[in-house]
Amino acid sequence: MLHSSLCSEKSLWKGARRWFFYVVLSLMLGVLVLYSWFSPSWRALLIQSEASSPSDKTTVKTISSQFYVKYPYQYHFILDEPNRCRQEGPFVVVMIPVAPQSKEARDIIRRTWGRETRVLGRLISYYFLLGKSRIGNDEEPPDEQILNESKKHHDILQSNFLDSYKNLTIKTMVMLEWLSSHCPNTSYAMKIDSDTFLNVHNLVDMLLKAPRHDYMTGLVARGAAVLRDPTSKWFLSPDVFPEDSYPPYALGVGYVLSLDLPKRILEASKKIPAVYIEDVYVGLCMRHLGIPLTDPPHSGLFVVNMPSERTGCYFASVIVTLLQNSEQILDVWKTYETRPDCWTFNVSLHFLP
Ligand SMILES: *[C@@H]1O[C@H](CO)[C@@H](O)[C@H](O)[C@H]1NC(C)=O
Ligand SMILES: *[C@@H]1O[C@H](CO)[C@@H](O)[C@H](O)[C@H]1NC(C)=O
Ligand SMILES: *[C@@H]1O[C@H](CO)[C@@H](O)[C@H](O)[C@H]1NC(C)=O
Ligand SMILES: *[C@@H]1O[C@H](CO)[C@@H](O)[C@H](O)[C@H]1NC(C)=O
Repeated sequence: MLHSSLCSEKSLWKGARRWFFYVVLSLMLGVLVLYSWFSPSWRALLIQSEASSPSDKTTVKTISSQFYVKYPYQYHFILDEPNRCRQEGPFVVVMIPVAPQSKEARDIIRRTWGRETRVLGRLISYYFLLGKSRIGNDEEPPDEQILNESKKHHDILQSNFLDSYKNLTIKTMVMLEWLSSHCPNTSYAMKIDSDTFLNVHNLVDMLLKAPRHDYMTGLVARGAAVLRDPTSKWFLSPDVFPEDSYPPYALGVGYVLSLDLPKRILEASKKIPAVYIEDVYVGLCMRHLGIPLTDPPHSGLFVVNMPSERTGCYFASVIVTLLQNSEQILDVWKTYETRPDCWTFNVSLHFLP
């Protein structure tokens, strides 16, 4: 009796438990379905697919769309050097994004670090990357002054998108496309801003010891907080990027990558909505590829906050330093060039254990 009543009580209990289990399970499923439908990453994907379908233009106007750039892989170069990189096969290609009207910045670089075309027996070449200063007719010829500059220096790559801060991601993608199709015999590319000092010797020195594949280095930000203040220059709203921090990314002021990567980053980019913050976007693509970023051999090589107290030999010890503006390169270059005694402070020495 005791036994059987216990038994029926047990099965009753069992039934209730099963019922409870099903209720919880279906609740959980419901929440999951709702969440995935409304979650930002899903919405981002939806926005992108809507943006690329010409049939439904009204839905494109979402609040978030200002944080995305449209990258249809359709831009082309109106000024190009189609064979130069292939023919020269440099060890490193240095790409310098710059506004079309900034001829002075380009000239300063050509007269300073951009003159260093052979270092430690390796060839280095430099290209300036421009968009258009205004979007007119596609048939319209390039600006005559820029055309002249291009004929003289053969270092201008100008693509047909509007050159603007919010379009820097487009510039980077166009750069990656150019690199992946024009430089079959080149080991590395560097992207560097025009208001910087570049120590080409230290760059080449580092790269001679670096991996040839899956390699990207620079000033790597790890766990950087996403800026949620709408007045911030780099504001991203949570529905565009819900995570609190970015994946590791190399600061856009100057980063280096092995030339197997451009093609792969471009492939990854097709799966990730393009946010306007150029360097973060490359970091997102790298995470998608599962390729970790590499820290430089020591921490003082890529510098965004130049120390105010510096030794006279400071510029011999870095690879990249962000300056106030491009005019400052002239002073810094003079300091660097006139102190060959400093060159013993170069990175080869810093690398010693
Ligand atoms: C471009 O070069 C041509 C030929 O050298 C010259 O006549 C013309 O004035 C130049 N244009 C500009 C805007 O510098
Ligand atoms: C970015 O470039 C595209 C293509 O030229 C242009 O339509 C768009 O207005 C530009 N966006 C910004 C914010 O400059
Ligand atoms: C790359 O350079 C090597 C040696 O300089 C040369 O033999 C080879 O043909 C080049 N390859 C391409 C694809 O240009
Ligand atoms: C950097 O240091 C190495 C090792 O001392 C030396 O061989 C090299 O010449 C130096 N570079 C320059 C530009 O002096």
